[in-house]
Amino acid sequence: MSDIVVDPDISLRPYTPEHAELLSPLLEANRAYLEPWVRLPGLVADVESYRNVLSELQERQSRGEVGGGSIVYRGELVGDVNFDGGFWASTGHAVGISYWITEKFQGRGIVTRACERVVTLAFETPGIAKVELSAAAHNKRSRRIIERLGFRLDGVLRSELKRRDDLHDLAVYSMLRPEWLAR
Ligand SMILES: CC(C)(COP(=O)(O)OP(=O)(O)OC[C@H]1O[C@@H](n2cnc3c(N)ncnc32)[C@H](O)[C@@H]1OP(=O)(O)O)[C@@H](O)C(=O)NCCC(=O)NCCS
Repeated sequence: MSDIVVDPDISLRPYTPEHAELLSPLLEANRAYLEPWVRLPGLVADVESYRNVLSELQERQSRGEVGGGSIVYRGELVGDVNFDGGFWASTGHAVGISYWITEKFQGRGIVTRACERVVTLAFETPGIAKVELSAAAHNKRSRRIIERLGFRLDGVLRSELKRRDDLHDLAVYSMLRPEWLAR
């Protein structure tokens, strides 16, 4: 599987367990910054557990259940964006998207552009009629990305998200295939 080109600066590298050596130090350096917002730090404790996560993603990507990959910005691995048919939705016609980028590379429009490509990829997948994006209600940066991409707010689920011992409201957005094609 080759890289998915987003633009001349950004591409998405399909999952492979070999990337654990590069991604694990990145996660460690950004653990405190990522922990309040994404599940990954809770799933990955060391290189070995990262390898297992990537191995499972690789397998699921080869079956078409997952799309996207690690974000490469000007040749450097800086984050991740993927769509996943199994995480939020189990109906077969909808996928959820999740993303993160290292603190250093925030604010350059990288996730907005990468996520836009992944939404298109999701809708190119036969049978996918809906893409869901959700963020903690107080995750303003993430919600601005979702809104910039034109997603519609379906609602706010109260105390839906558990991070460490805290419960947070979750803002849930969606995009339907005809809406995306008509943008
Ligand atoms: C939330 C997060 C993904 C944002 O990523 P990011 O790459 O900084 O997002 P972007 O750069 O695309 O957008 C941020 C800003 O950059 C600006 N920007 C700069 N250059 C841009 C460009 N070329 N194109 C689009 N936007 C650009 C945007 O306008 C935006 O500004 P605003 O938020 O003040 O409106 C990142 O902060 C992160 O990983 N946080 C921790 C994990 C997390 O919260 N994940 C999401 C869980 S739901």
